[in-house]
This record gives sequence, C-alpha cells and structure tokens, in this order.
Amino acid sequence: MVSAPLDEAAPQHDIDGTLFLINRQWRVSKNYIPELMRQAEVSGKVRTMQVEAAAALEEMYAACKEEENITLTTISGYRSYATQRAIYNRKLDSVGSKAKADEYVARAGASEHQLGMAMDVSQKGRSNLSTSFARYGGGKWLMENCWRFGFIIRYQKGWEDVTGYEYEPWHVRYVGKEAAAAIHDNEMPLEHYLLLLRQERLIDIIIGEKVME
Ligand code: DAL
Ligand code: ZN
Repeated sequence: MVSAPLDEAAPQHDIDGTLFLINRQWRVSKNYIPELMRQAEVSGKVRTMQVEAAAALEEMYAACKEEENITLTTISGYRSYATQRAIYNRKLDSVGSKAKADEYVARAGASEHQLGMAMDVSQKGRSNLSTSFARYGGGKWLMENCWRFGFIIRYQKGWEDVTGYEYEPWHVRYVGKEAAAAIHDNEMPLEHYLLLLRQERLIDIIIGEKVME
C-alpha cells in the first residue's frame, strides 16, 4: 500500500547513491556528472557506468552466458546531458510532438542514463530496441533474473502513469541487491518502493520517539 503523492518518493540526497531517484519530476542539473565511473567490458564492448553498477553488469552478463548460453549486448550506458538532449531531439523529430516523444525518451536532466546507473540491453543478433525483446531468451532471462545482480526492469507494463514512460523491457536500472530483490518480490515501480522505504523510516522514527518517552 502506497499512500503519498509520488513527488514525495525522492529522498534527493546522495546523488551518487544507488537509490537516487531521477524521473520527470526529479532531474539533475546540466552540471551533474557522476563521480566514480568505470568501464564495463561485456560482449566485446566497453560501456561506462558507475563503479558498482559496472561490476554488477559484468557479473550479470557472465551468468546469462553460463546459464542460458545467451550473449547479452549493450546498446547504451552512461549518457552526458548533451547526449540525452540530442537523443530526445532526435525522437522529437521522428515522432513530431513533445507529448509523444516524452512517452519514450527522457528530457535532458531526467534520464537514469545520466546517473551511470542504467543500461539498455539487447542480445547477440539484435541491434535495435523494441518491446519484442521481452519474447527473446535474453529478454526473458533479464526480466526473471536481473534482480539477482541488483538491477530492476524500470519501465514495466501498467506502470506508465507512475514511471512516465512506455514499457521498456531492455532498460535496467542498478539499485543494489537488497532493493532489487524487494522491488522484484513486490512487483512495484521504484517510485513506490522509495515511498514505502520513507514511510517505514518515518514509522521507525515515530515509534522510536514513543519508546523514548
Ligand atoms: N528511455 C528512457 C526513459 C530514457 O530516455 O532515459
Ligand atoms: Zn534506457
């Protein structure tokens, strides 16, 4: 049960932390560049992510290869503010309206890719991103297993009103293993998980004070 306005979901501190929320409501400035970045080497490509996320990504790709003999590939990792703006503008040119472009691509400042915490994943033999990835072996494995490595499928069907974006079976966000397991078990968007977390912390504080009286 989540009962609070969604814009209360953001803790908005620890910008380099694994649970930092970025979405339509909560953005980073154009001066933000993640501090601790590392190159992840997977499937013959080098992609940049934050240190912990990059290590987890390598672990996840190796596990998919070992368990399913499927080679996952990387399409897009860290993006600068300028790159995100260029991607948004390209989408706008192709779909013709901001309302439509906003369903698929984040505005500059609003993308998890700018945190170095997101990766767009595909599998060998597929170079485009489409929802059909969910029916491929790699997409299915990712959906069922990414939480084991600290990732979540961030934009799922039915969550559009909360996340703000259409279904993206390829976009994984690193949140760390504990949060990813909880989010997976509860089948909830990150926004709802963060609200719950904050409510639990508040309850702890309130109960703590009562005990002290
Ligand atoms: N496609 C996702 C929402 C992004 O642009 O970050
Ligand atoms: Zn993405």
